[in-house]
Amino acid sequence: MNHLSSSCASEVTRNVVMDGKAFAQKIRAEVAEQVPAFVADAGRQPGLAVVLVGSDPASQVYVRTKMRQAAEVGIKSFQHLLGVDTTQAQLLSLIEILNQDDSIDGILVQLPLPKQINETAVIEAIDPAKDVDGFHPINVGRLSAGHPGMVPCTPLGCLLLLQDRLGDLSGLKAVVVGRSNIVGKPIGQLLLNANCTVTTVHSRSQHIVEECRQADILVVAVGRPCMIGDEHIKPGAIVLDVGINRIADAQGETRLVGDVDFDAAITTAGGLTPVPGGIGPMTVACLMRNTLTAARQRLLAH
Ligand code: GUN
Repeated sequence: MNHLSSSCASEVTRNVVMDGKAFAQKIRAEVAEQVPAFVADAGRQPGLAVVLVGSDPASQVYVRTKMRQAAEVGIKSFQHLLGVDTTQAQLLSLIEILNQDDSIDGILVQLPLPKQINETAVIEAIDPAKDVDGFHPINVGRLSAGHPGMVPCTPLGCLLLLQDRLGDLSGLKAVVVGRSNIVGKPIGQLLLNANCTVTTVHSRSQHIVEECRQADILVVAVGRPCMIGDEHIKPGAIVLDVGINRIADAQGETRLVGDVDFDAAITTAGGLTPVPGGIGPMTVACLMRNTLTAARQRLLAH
């Protein structure tokens, strides 16, 4: 059943702002509820290895959040902090050790990596069964073929939020703005697998406003502050803002904004995720969900 809003008066009071923080909490609570059954079957906790190379401050914050949330849901996490001068060979040998370690179900190598390390080589070295980021070509291929596999966390969070809001997405027109490997491409695949009619819009696209205005679901992941305004939005559409941009205001204070002009979009959208507090929290919650999924699948395979 679809629940897209119309412009009728009874809908005016409906909550347009979509609370990703609350929904992420719900997902984490579901994982926490399911972990004890895994522990009973496996005789151990699900294990997540988080690898950080270098000391990028934003990456350090993300890694700390992942470790804390893992502990909260009953996942045992293993932190590997490597120096900024780590060689590719050193990182690959750590990944091989983690691949062989039966107490580890998920391996997350925080990106970006220092320039001496080839990200593709690192991603391809991770055992696809432990690839909780869903970046390995085997998992990319499975998603593309519509087969079960590990799905990237941010796109998975987008899908779960949309299904929570709209129910069955079949037949809805979805426009994805951005074609990154981490968000744009996989969310397009997920929406296609969920029977949406999907269009991808990117920097070379023509008639971007007209394309976006066709969308029942508009997902924006480009990394350009305020790129999308109310002129891009069909009245009542659900708009997911995946952008996280740090900008300086007139006083020189930095703050986070998305790719969507929130104040403009809120007048037209039927649902809109804020930044911060929208899609961001869903990503880490879905990492916990993926780690439990990987743990269960590895247990079944043994
Ligand atoms: N850096 C920014 N987003 C991500 C992500 O989803 N996974 C990893 N591994 N690194 C990131």
